[in-house]
Amino acid sequence: MAYEPKLLGFLCNWCAYAGADLAGVSRVQYPPNMRVIRVMCSGRVDPLHVLEAFRNGMDGVAVLGCHPGDCHYLTGNYQAERKMDLTFRVMEKVGIDPDRLLLDWVSAAEGQRFGEVITDFTERIRELGPLDAADAGPKAAVGEKIASMDRIRWLVGKERDMVDHGNVYGDKLDEAELKDILWNNIVNEYNRELIRSAIRAGSPATVPSIAEAVEMDTATVFKYMIDLENAGQVHMMDIVDDDPRYILVGEVSE
Ligand code: FES
Repeated sequence: MAYEPKLLGFLCNWCAYAGADLAGVSRVQYPPNMRVIRVMCSGRVDPLHVLEAFRNGMDGVAVLGCHPGDCHYLTGNYQAERKMDLTFRVMEKVGIDPDRLLLDWVSAAEGQRFGEVITDFTERIRELGPLDAADAGPKAAVGEKIASMDRIRWLVGKERDMVDHGNVYGDKLDEAELKDILWNNIVNEYNRELIRSAIRAGSPATVPSIAEAVEMDTATVFKYMIDLENAGQVHMMDIVDDDPRYILVGEVSE
């Protein structure tokens, strides 16, 4: 049987959903692969919603809102841009092809365009093929941990304000610099998660054994271990042959 992509679409109530309605009454033809969740605004869609969809077997996710400047809550679609930018980056880091996520704009008057966007996206995912659930599920779960981090969520939530209006001192921040900070946070959290997984798999673990498992140098792993210890996430259990052995806090060593 030919492969049929499983797609999930988050459609804002005022534009994209109305555009889908218009496509229906206008009898615009498009593939029926997408299941739709109606949200009041594209800004309501959280990176966690998208990653959860991938963890639960979706091959592609589309977030469709009003055109920039037309959001019924004024800035919701600008927030959606920031949130989906984070999601694209997290997907790239954990190894889920960012092409499986689409952020686009469709107005209530664009029934024809709605059909074209869905047709193009369905074809794009058909070419990428099915997402292997056994592989993508754990990757998406790691992505959810990264996207849940308070520091990352705060950066994404404040990004537009800090670029357009400045910080509490009125200094406007450079967008590229903020993106770099965001990317560094994503990379750091991803590496911490790799290290936690290595300890979980071989607990109690030494810095050299973790470094070998995660393919990082021991100095870098040591730096992360200090971070994790300071955050109360790992604990030095004992020292064997001059090597400290670590366990995860709250998890039983074998
Ligand atoms: S109401 Fe449509 S994107 Fe905000």
